[in-house]
Amino acid sequence: MRVLVIGSGGREHALCWKISQSVKCSKIYCAPGNGGIAKIAETVNIESDDVDKLLKFAKDNKIDFTVVGPEVPLVKGIVDKFQKEGLKIFGPNAKLAAIEGSKIFAKSLMKKAGVPTADFREFDNIDEALKYAATKKLPLVVKADGLCAGKGVVVCKTKDELQSALESMLVDKVFGPAGEKVIIEDCLVGEEASIIVISDGKNIVPMASSQDHKRIFDGDMGSNTGGMGAYSPAPVITNELFKKIIDTVIYPVINTLAKDGMPYKGVLYAGIMVTKDGPFVLEFNARFGDPETQAIMPRLRSDLLDIMERAVNGNLGGYSVEWDPRPCVSVVLASGGYPKKYDKGMEIKGLEETSAMKDVMIFHAGTRKGRRAADSDKLLITSGGRVLNITALGDDMQKAIDNCYNAVRAIHFDKMHYRRDIGARAISRKLGA
Ligand code: AMP
Ligand code: GLY
Repeated sequence: MRVLVIGSGGREHALCWKISQSVKCSKIYCAPGNGGIAKIAETVNIESDDVDKLLKFAKDNKIDFTVVGPEVPLVKGIVDKFQKEGLKIFGPNAKLAAIEGSKIFAKSLMKKAGVPTADFREFDNIDEALKYAATKKLPLVVKADGLCAGKGVVVCKTKDELQSALESMLVDKVFGPAGEKVIIEDCLVGEEASIIVISDGKNIVPMASSQDHKRIFDGDMGSNTGGMGAYSPAPVITNELFKKIIDTVIYPVINTLAKDGMPYKGVLYAGIMVTKDGPFVLEFNARFGDPETQAIMPRLRSDLLDIMERAVNGNLGGYSVEWDPRPCVSVVLASGGYPKKYDKGMEIKGLEETSAMKDVMIFHAGTRKGRRAADSDKLLITSGGRVLNITALGDDMQKAIDNCYNAVRAIHFDKMHYRRDIGARAISRKLGA
């Protein structure tokens, strides 16, 4: 099959890396890709949300199967457009991608399906929102309805924070139409984990559990980011809890949608808060997690392209997925200053040294080839906030962490920043902390 992967991050590098190992894959393109993806796929200079250009490319280049990495093209209806032209594409259509694109759609669906989630109300008027909030205990969580590139959720500990979150969304409209409606949700306390499954509309193949590290600094301090590292499996998700989440979250959603004549095909990602009262859903995403995918793919022994093709064909029933039992840790190397202002164009050094390291994989995010004429092939420079995902397997979590940070130490670029504690929570939990 000739495969097109859409996106440019570490997630898409991990997907390309895994798909390119499939016996079913004869050629792989990635649009737009990055400096690392360019080594294993032919990169195509089309942005991931330019649906019309992507469609033309797929038709002109006889693409047999398209895999969508990020949420924006899904919510924009890329799947509908490709399907209309008879092209095979992995992901939910626009109506179903609303599970990520509209918090109100997702919460209403959860209510209907009886999925455990925090109590909530929706508002488009600040006075009514404040009146409701006054009847509730703080903290409360304010969420913009639409896609806000991960910035549309504010956990409000004080009245002032609540007032300013609501004002910025409903009055100042900082997120535009995406924030014209909001939900106010009860605050949940516990440990977060990601449960990602692939669905064919009826049957599912679950991916291994994982945990993201969203804050910029060690100890979960500082601002939220797109994710500073991940590991898989997440020890907070015991086998019993995993089964409970599949039975009380994943199947109820898939079955409810199927009953409504909207079979969900693609990735269903449940962001879970494990509370003292059990697992609750914080959010759904309609795509693979980033950086969770970078920690999951190295553990997947089965053929990802085969699983995704079966999902599109409605043929996942009875499929048995195989995993490498070894844990995997992925650490993000970011540009100094990220997630705020940062410089680009720093030369990345040390990658050759890591290529000889056993069980180490480097997934690129914000990298591109430099333009220094003499050795332009070798020069790699930073081109984004999250630059590289240094990923390693190990016989146990501590060994995976050690292998990973050993590789991290070989790499350098000016003002490089990374967290030193990716995986530490898994270790303290194992020790009973
Ligand atoms: P979401 O995009 O809805 O997952 O929210 C982003 C982040 O905000 C989550 O990963 C949580 O850390 C936090 N969050 C969202 N909803 C809640 C909630 N109800 N209680 C506590 N934290 C939350
Ligand atoms: N790791 C969080 C996300 O992919 O949304």
